[in-house]
Amino acid sequence: MRTVHTLKELRAILNGYRNQGKRIGLVPTMGNLHEGHLALVEKALQAADVVVTSVFVNPMQFGANEDLDTYPRTLTEDQDKLRAAGNTLIFAPAASEVYPHGLACHTRITVPEVSEGHCGATRPGHFEGVATVVTMLFNMVQPDVAVFGEKDYQQLAVIRKLVSDLLIPVEVIGAPTVRDDDGVAKSSRNSFLSEEDRRRAPAIFTLLNLTAEQLATGETDYARLEREARETLTKEGFRPDYFTIVNSYTLKPARTDETELTILAAAFIGPTRLIDNLSVSRASH
Ligand code: PAF
Repeated sequence: MRTVHTLKELRAILNGYRNQGKRIGLVPTMGNLHEGHLALVEKALQAADVVVTSVFVNPMQFGANEDLDTYPRTLTEDQDKLRAAGNTLIFAPAASEVYPHGLACHTRITVPEVSEGHCGATRPGHFEGVATVVTMLFNMVQPDVAVFGEKDYQQLAVIRKLVSDLLIPVEVIGAPTVRDDDGVAKSSRNSFLSEEDRRRAPAIFTLLNLTAEQLATGETDYARLEREARETLTKEGFRPDYFTIVNSYTLKPARTDETELTILAAAFIGPTRLIDNLSVSRASH
């Protein structure tokens, strides 16, 4: 398994695969890989002949007060994990390769509506950064298929919309969230949690499940469910950002007659912000 750092090397290798008629898969990551990422690679290997995993901590998607500088960079360990997972090629560009003229003057992709609210409200500019770098990765790799985690539910919705609106010829596959035994969604940011905070972290998934059960039985007082979940999170030592029931496709507040619902949650525990979600498909009442 090779690691390349430049677009020139990447294109030369991928042209070779393309000439052999190989189907190319892409798994975009920011590195510090865990089992959740490796499940994306596994899914990509089922859908493609060769899989490119990109490892790039994208400065454009971090806000001024966020953790860009401290975000873990672990390329050597990531290489070992990807080799064991059967990944074909790593693309690990420097920021100067992706943004040669700097961030300030770089063209940006804005995906309206679905980027707004939830993480988009708390992290202004975040989805613009994600949409821009993912579009560039699509143009650099020109994959047939790309795999993203459902854990970042809003991000996946943003990417699906940009692919549809900009007619990008790539199949986007969502992969289910991988969880620890206690239900906590695997995330690179879990490594920031203190022992005490990690002990509390399962409360988010527990509340998602409790809320999902109530929705599945036909409960339509969403405001009460959301309020109670936020109150419980606060009692458990979290600082809730949002806990909200949305239409699974539009991510707008769910109407009571809708059947495809997703509960989106984000909460700070200590300095670390965790996100998670759970979808509910319910019979119409
Ligand atoms: O989900 C991530 O790790 C990032 O947002 C992504 C999709 C790799 C873009 O930088």
